[in-house]
Amino acid sequence: MASTIPRSIHAQSSEGSVDYSLLVQEGRVHGSLYTSEAVFHEEMDKIFQGGWTFVAHESEVPNPGDYVTRRVGTQSIIVLRDKDGDYLAFYNRCPHRGATICSSRSGRQARLTCPYHGWTFALDGRLIGVPYPAAYPQTFERATLGLRSVARCQSYGGFIFVSLGAEDRSLDDHLGNAKSLIDDLLALSPLGRIRLTGGWMKHRIRSNWKILFENQIDGYHVHVVHGSLLASNKTFTSGRDRTFASPTRVRDFGDGHVDIDHGSDYRAIDKPLLWMGRHSTHSYQEYVGAMTASYGESEARRRLVNGPPHSMLFPNLSLAEMNIIFIEPVGPGESIAYTTPVLLEGAEELNQRTLRRCEGALGPAGFLIADDAEIAELTQRGLNNMQPEWIELTRGIDQEEVREDGSRIAGLMDETGQRGFWRHYRNVMAAPRVARP
Ligand SMILES: [Fe+2]
Repeated sequence: MASTIPRSIHAQSSEGSVDYSLLVQEGRVHGSLYTSEAVFHEEMDKIFQGGWTFVAHESEVPNPGDYVTRRVGTQSIIVLRDKDGDYLAFYNRCPHRGATICSSRSGRQARLTCPYHGWTFALDGRLIGVPYPAAYPQTFERATLGLRSVARCQSYGGFIFVSLGAEDRSLDDHLGNAKSLIDDLLALSPLGRIRLTGGWMKHRIRSNWKILFENQIDGYHVHVVHGSLLASNKTFTSGRDRTFASPTRVRDFGDGHVDIDHGSDYRAIDKPLLWMGRHSTHSYQEYVGAMTASYGESEARRRLVNGPPHSMLFPNLSLAEMNIIFIEPVGPGESIAYTTPVLLEGAEELNQRTLRRCEGALGPAGFLIADDAEIAELTQRGLNNMQPEWIELTRGIDQEEVREDGSRIAGLMDETGQRGFWRHYRNVMAAPRVARP
């Protein structure tokens, strides 16, 4: 195997395609995967458009006619709730001359009207109005000129996912064992539901989307990148000691999904609500009462000890404890991270506090995301240098516990999650292109 791959050709084979099985190896990956335009475009095609990606949450479109617009890979997609309460996703393009139908990020409409020539569409996408129709020929077929739906749009636990490709994998297959992570989050609501209605904060970060994914499940950087935070806050000072000898486990669920199981730490201490602040004096009596009324004392206590997941679901959704983050790739060296608090249905007292904590950690001057964004940008800038060519990812590789279901478990600071991400990435990227419908 060649140890040196000229950056200029990104290990392209003689056919001109990128050889992902050479660039992604167990324990090391090639730096060009973070910087190459060709790789980025292939990722948008195969990962973000060809497979399942998170696009919106049901609570963002609660009523018929409510919509949001989102990027999926390079595509602008309208996600809306129709008259029957179903979720539909359309390409944001008028079938007439191609204009963008919805230019707002969100809204509510009884019907969708193209801003160019006024063609009008029902909420199910049918073309229902054409100004001055008399000039159209007899061959003009309204039935074929509706908004174009994406291939698949389905939800799990309120999270709506789309797939623009023709792959036959179900959402159930894609989420696999990681469905339990969504279940664990919903389990914290007395009503079993969450809503993402606190508003999305938007951070434009000059780094590749994969750097953000890898950082989100990285337990090794915390004491360095967030060192000033740890040093300045007594809530986190004990956290630092904990990090060095932490019982917290990282779990690679397969299919690129990864979780940092802080619950393993909380269960060892066996105290409810540590996830809302280790030294918090807040008792959340109303919330604990509502959980107990819903689930009974011992089950409520189990859920309150266990807390929320800290996960990345491939390729773009992070269940980041009491925050949701999703990543929108813009280019090989640019991404947008959207963040919002997890609001639990039936827990309004707790929600107020969650909202403030989310602003503090992930807001415009947030003490976590600012540090993470800076190191992501420094990493991207470093990777633009051509040498050394490889990223080293062997930490903990000999100490992983492999379970029967194929998942791998290791220590908080091991790079098991990153290796799990890359293993799935290589499978998806090395596969042949899927035809688009
Ligand atoms: Fe961080």
